[in-house]
Amino acid sequence: MDLKILPGNIANMIAAGEVVQRPASVVKELMENSVDAGAGQVSVLIGDSGRTLIQVIDDGSGMTPDDAVLCFERHATSKIATAEDLQEILTFGFRGEALASIAAVAEVTLKTRTAANETGCQVEMAGSQHVSTTEVSAPVGTNIAVRNLFYNIPARRKFLKSDNVEFKHIVEEFTKVALTRPETGFSLSHNGKDIFVLRPAKSLKYRIMDLMGTSVAGDLVDIAADTSLVSLRGFAGRPDTARKTLGNQFFFINGRYFRSPYLHKAVMRAYEGLIAEGVTPSYFIYLETDPGYVDVNISPTKSEVKFEDDSLVFQVVYASVKETLGKNSFAGDIDFSNPEANNMPVLGRHFNEYKPDTAPQVNVDPGYDPFESIFPESGPAPKQPDFVPSFRPGQYTDRRDDYGKLFEDKTLPISQTLILGGKYIITPAKDGLMVVNIRRAWERVLYDRALAALTKDGHVTQANMFPVKVQVGTVGRLLFDSKSAILQTLGFDISPFGEDTIVVNGVPEGFSGEQGKVETMVQDLLLILSDDSVSLPGVMESSMAEKIALLGASSRGDLSSPMEARALLDALLSSDNPELTISGKKTMAVLSSAQIDKLF
Ligand SMILES: Nc1ncnc2c1ncn2[C@@H]1O[C@H](COP(=O)(O)OP(=O)(O)O)[C@@H](O)[C@H]1O
Ligand SMILES: [Mg+2]
Repeated sequence: MDLKILPGNIANMIAAGEVVQRPASVVKELMENSVDAGAGQVSVLIGDSGRTLIQVIDDGSGMTPDDAVLCFERHATSKIATAEDLQEILTFGFRGEALASIAAVAEVTLKTRTAANETGCQVEMAGSQHVSTTEVSAPVGTNIAVRNLFYNIPARRKFLKSDNVEFKHIVEEFTKVALTRPETGFSLSHNGKDIFVLRPAKSLKYRIMDLMGTSVAGDLVDIAADTSLVSLRGFAGRPDTARKTLGNQFFFINGRYFRSPYLHKAVMRAYEGLIAEGVTPSYFIYLETDPGYVDVNISPTKSEVKFEDDSLVFQVVYASVKETLGKNSFAGDIDFSNPEANNMPVLGRHFNEYKPDTAPQVNVDPGYDPFESIFPESGPAPKQPDFVPSFRPGQYTDRRDDYGKLFEDKTLPISQTLILGGKYIITPAKDGLMVVNIRRAWERVLYDRALAALTKDGHVTQANMFPVKVQVGTVGRLLFDSKSAILQTLGFDISPFGEDTIVVNGVPEGFSGEQGKVETMVQDLLLILSDDSVSLPGVMESSMAEKIALLGASSRGDLSSPMEARALLDALLSSDNPELTISGKKTMAVLSSAQIDKLF
């Protein structure tokens, strides 16, 4: 047999098989290159789930005309030069393979300019062949368009999944990169419609909120750990929000996403006994180590890494998650109305500037529980592992009735219902004062309503409002269209408009109809609707009701009058379970006369 060195274009095509598996791989590589080039803004434009177009535009360093041609050569990289550099990698790329691989299996147009050059240049490539180089005017930065992916490999093209699946992969890759650089702006559009517009965020928490919605972000608690070899920062989901879907589980090492079934086990072990079988909590875990401690060069896509001591990292992950879960007892709240309050700084070079308290802490609002500060001996109420009801079990036989009895008099003048700081309702109760947490009361009330509507063939009353038009993208439109019946039942009046827009004409009673809030609500609804993980009868309804309730509780406007406060109280007290939210947080507390006496 003749031994031959493969021609460059064939070698590139083979390499492309590993690096470019599907459109999403191209998105990943190009976005990473933009970030590596120091871009402050990265825009990703997709056509037909990446089959026809994947374009990434950045305002990074750009390339000189020479480099613009050279970058398509295999092993052409500006990121490492010596073997030692391989120990110190802080960029995403370093193998110099991505552009060569992409150009082997697509038609590529690269337009780029550096600040030092007056004009830019445009390089065209197709199937590893250089087609042309022309001088063009261009802004500083790089604009690379990849067209007709796998045009020269029909077998590969045939193996692509449906448009929806391929686009979902793209969103996943986009998300992973966006989660590593909150300080960078990213946008993603599909067939001309905006899917994500992520402005530079002050902290990871904001970025997570922009990407996942307040409902996911609001259920996270902080994790942190420091050892001499590894530091860990991040967030883990409250156990009660664990879901059957996989999707919000992320590990990052030195600012790079990686996959790790092994470390996933560490997280799952920390949740043992706290979550039901078959569900997975959300987590966003950011590890930082000396670059020499970890090998990121074990797979062409660099999606897996090898630590010098895997079991140590396992321990760190396990212990920090476990500690946080134990400390918080899931009763503490992250106050997402003020994400600054427990800011997690951006990663990378700022990482070490962030010195958290040795104990990971949840951000408990200082005004959280008025009794805590009045009666320090009662201890930090929200942090007790088991919820201690304000009304001891057994004290009453029929609890529902007794909540009614708490009122001295059902015809209490409305003037005796006070709203404290927009957060609490205070009202005289039998032998004392009752304080109700407004947001949590809404959670309970909206949950009951939604569940009743979904299971008892009912309808949630609708509050009409000034119609609000929201652009949701074509994917979003499809979701809204397919779930319109269920939305109607839940009290939403949403009608289609054009190709990618919906009009919200009515929202469930208790939701805000304010333009800005409706827009955020629609984004969150999209997330809820796209989660098709729970299809079990019964589970679907309660899970949907729960999400709608959280959404409503976070989107509603302030109570504007004692009358409204009273209506909320009445609704709460007629619930079967008025004292707890669905996730087990208490909605109310009573300050007894005896406790008041002790004050003096
Ligand atoms: N968006 C970009 N802006 C500036 N330079 C880029 C960009 N994309 C690629 N390059 C240059 O092209 C080189 C090759 O890119 P690539 O094939 O992805 O390899 P790697 O990222 O591993 O170095 C990079 O090292 C970089 O110098
Ligand atoms: Mg690269």
